[in-house]
Amino acid sequence: MSIRLGDEAPNFTADTTDGPIDFHEWKSGSWAVFFSHPNDFTPVCTTELGRTAALQDEFTKRNVKAIAVSVDSLADHNGWAPDIKDVGGVPLNFPIIADPDRAVSMTYDMLHPGEDDTSTVRSVFIIDPSNKVRLTLTYPKSVGRNFDEIVRVIDALQLTDASPVSTPVDWTPGDRVIVATSVSTEEAKKRFTDVEEVKPYLRFAAQP
Ligand code: BEZ
Repeated sequence: MSIRLGDEAPNFTADTTDGPIDFHEWKSGSWAVFFSHPNDFTPVCTTELGRTAALQDEFTKRNVKAIAVSVDSLADHNGWAPDIKDVGGVPLNFPIIADPDRAVSMTYDMLHPGEDDTSTVRSVFIIDPSNKVRLTLTYPKSVGRNFDEIVRVIDALQLTDASPVSTPVDWTPGDRVIVATSVSTEEAKKRFTDVEEVKPYLRFAAQP
């Protein structure tokens, strides 16, 4: 089943390194970064999970909970956790789902036979507090993800949810934003600062 932007994130129950969870109950009221990695005790994955642990304060500031999944067992996840701490410099501080029967991975379409049908690819789902899927990413096994980009997207989603703006190419927090076309330039000048009309349909403003 492919999951599209705007879909409700499917619920599931699973065993994790923090104990059994019901996904929707676990994330209740929070954003979630739900991501898969191919296997425990592998180099790229160790760097990715180490970085996720190190980003915990950034996620907490944004009301985001991180959760990982792979087809490995709970015993493997627990055995691997000290390596994640060694590499990331921070103890494992988010749950890793054990999915040996691939039930969760299949629900979220994280198994790609062309890559290797026995383990998950590097998928990311950013899910909002109402359980709506707001972003999906899929990377091949050989390419580690950029977790700064994941945090940047969360910032952009939270900003554009709060105001009638969108974010331009290569936006990072503090950069100018684009005023929604539903807002007239006259109204934009009342509502935002430093409004610049580059085209009738492209008006920049300072980040609200
Ligand atoms: C890794 O994490 O390094 C990795 C895992 C599976 C396939 C390729 C690389």
